[in-house]
Amino acid sequence: MSYSNRLLVKNAQQVVLICNKGEKYLRNDGLHSLCVIENGSVVIGSDGLIKAVGPADTIKAQYPEASFDKVIDATGMCVLPGLVDAHTHPVWAGDRVHEFAMKLAGATYMDVHRAGGGIHFTVEHTRAAKASELLSSLSSRLVRMQRAGTTLVECKSGYGLDLQTEVKMLEVIEEARRTLPINISSTYCGAHAVPKGKTVAEATEDILQVQLPRLRERISAGTLRVDNIDVFCEQGVFDLSSSRSILQAGKDMGLNINFHGDELHPMNSAQMGAELGALAISHLEEVTDEGIAAMAKAKTAAVLLPTTAYILRLPQPRARDMLDAGVIVALGSDFNPNAYCCSMPIVMHLACVNMRMSMPEALAAATINAAYALGCSHTHGSLEVNKHGDLLVLNTTRWEHLIYQLGGHQELIRYVIIKGNII
Ligand code: NIG
Ligand code: FE
Repeated sequence: MSYSNRLLVKNAQQVVLICNKGEKYLRNDGLHSLCVIENGSVVIGSDGLIKAVGPADTIKAQYPEASFDKVIDATGMCVLPGLVDAHTHPVWAGDRVHEFAMKLAGATYMDVHRAGGGIHFTVEHTRAAKASELLSSLSSRLVRMQRAGTTLVECKSGYGLDLQTEVKMLEVIEEARRTLPINISSTYCGAHAVPKGKTVAEATEDILQVQLPRLRERISAGTLRVDNIDVFCEQGVFDLSSSRSILQAGKDMGLNINFHGDELHPMNSAQMGAELGALAISHLEEVTDEGIAAMAKAKTAAVLLPTTAYILRLPQPRARDMLDAGVIVALGSDFNPNAYCCSMPIVMHLACVNMRMSMPEALAAATINAAYALGCSHTHGSLEVNKHGDLLVLNTTRWEHLIYQLGGHQELIRYVIIKGNII
């Protein structure tokens, strides 16, 4: 017997659409209340896309249950869009638990980095690892993220810093995209640190003359997919002018600009990114008022990373100032060997408590706005007709429990659904 529809999720106490007017992002003015249907249902077609979402009675009248492969009775439960994690570094070998102890004892992130640890430690281990080992650890990390409700995740390279290892990492990300249900946006981050023994100028030259041209060939030949370009624009890493030239070269190849800026020092990264038409800038703990204004004007999303500020005891990113100025605010876990967090619900919780975001602001930042930061908000990030059928069913009558509860989300998240398939 063949069915015309894949999945019906019916009679949910709340269906949180996030938006329903085709918005590609939500700014402060649209954020005071999210679009919530009480007693609603969602229909996902055999192509994995949302066919209908609305009051349970209306859906019942239009879609006979017999036309579905699968029906979930969500009575007493809530339905939300799958979460989007706009910033992760999930491909690496060798954890850094020993450095966590050093940082707890008072060492700063840059103390560890300058002493040859931090990113350098991870680069050494990642260069030595086989692709199969990297794929296996990446897959288990992505499964953990998925269990915590993430259905679209950005994955960066950046622990190779040479052509061979950067390509190895991007191929591993590509293989994960091919084999796992989770949606992936991939980012080339060859300028994540200056390799040992090289100057900034030499590293920039290698990226511009060797790495990017090779990537361009692979992308045009259709043997590798890369979506975004990233740089760590920071004192002692890539300065403003080398960051600008690398990002511009990536943009010229058709990649979205999405980079680390104004994290540990005010670098005017925000102004530079806005000028280049960056889709997103991450961190921004040290952004200035001018940087905020430039990002609001250019519609460059701010990807805020509450785990980093928390773990490194940095000043909190100025989420309220950004929201008030009309910046598109998104969230990411920043999963990496420094910030070992796979859970967007915990990230939203930290954003609310430490960065003073409201729960609707945090949820929009972890769905539609994070999708915008990845250039995917026309297909992901809200429950709207023709978008991907990526959603969560929560075992609770109020959606806010996803943020209110600190940890233990596997009990709360009853189903994770990607393109209409229960994962
Ligand atoms: O976003 N700031 C630069 N990159 C990462 C950290 C990467 C690492 O320490 O391995 C970040 O926090
Ligand atoms: Fe990062």
